[in-house]
Amino acid sequence: MECVLLCAERPHNVIGSSSPNIIGQGLQFTVYQEGERVRKKPNAISDILRILAKSSPQNVVNPLGLGREARRIARERDAAVAEFKAHVVKPELVANAEVRGRTIVQDKVVPLGKALSLSDSPHEILDAFVRLTRDCWRNGFSETSFNFTVNHGLTSDGAVVVIDIGEISFARDVVQRHVSERIWSRCWSLTNDLNADLRSYAVDAFDAAFTVEALNAFWADAPLSG
Ligand SMILES: Nc1ncnc2c1ncn2[C@@H]1O[C@H](COP(=O)(O)OP(=O)(O)O)[C@@H](O)[C@H]1O
Ligand SMILES: [Mg+2]
Repeated sequence: MECVLLCAERPHNVIGSSSPNIIGQGLQFTVYQEGERVRKKPNAISDILRILAKSSPQNVVNPLGLGREARRIARERDAAVAEFKAHVVKPELVANAEVRGRTIVQDKVVPLGKALSLSDSPHEILDAFVRLTRDCWRNGFSETSFNFTVNHGLTSDGAVVVIDIGEISFARDVVQRHVSERIWSRCWSLTNDLNADLRSYAVDAFDAAFTVEALNAFWADAPLSG
């Protein structure tokens, strides 16, 4: 999803839901644990409406606008999943994600926000996020919201990977615009989900690594799938 407005808001993750198998929920997907893998089921419009209404009660004042927003979110998610299917993506960059019908199956990882808070060396995790993002650029895609504490994870091998397939873009011009606007500087993960020390480390690291020059030097379009 191209996340120009929503990235600055708190991602709508709901953990601790009534179903014991649910380990996460964003606006686009509800995530169920299945052993070492997860199954991500697309949220119905009614689920998206409920999550939007719960996260910002002022949204309910404009139900027409809310309905439009929910339909836009579902449409952009479906388009992002179709784009993902249409390209060849190195599985190790996306937690071995596979599209099965309307569902995504993926390795279970530790969401990066949790990994950062548990780690003795969180700066190294941020460095690994920078390397991963540049690897994604080398392979023709990028996670566009930079809400890395919830849209990326740490594998059991210690690798940082993208988990939110609905936030990926394969369009260099879209990524270029986000980079030139330094979209990370406004994103919720950075403004609300890191302590001051990590925030300042992350801004410096991202500003140094995520430049339009670097994007153009690294980028190679992803091959289309057969
Ligand atoms: N592979 C995974 N392993 C562990 N938790 C996950 C995984 N994928 C998603 N989650 C959890 O579910 C949340 C929502 O998943 P995400 O793919 O970001 O969906 P959305 O597109 O709806 O935001 C994540 O922030 C994370 O907490
Ligand atoms: Mg997400």
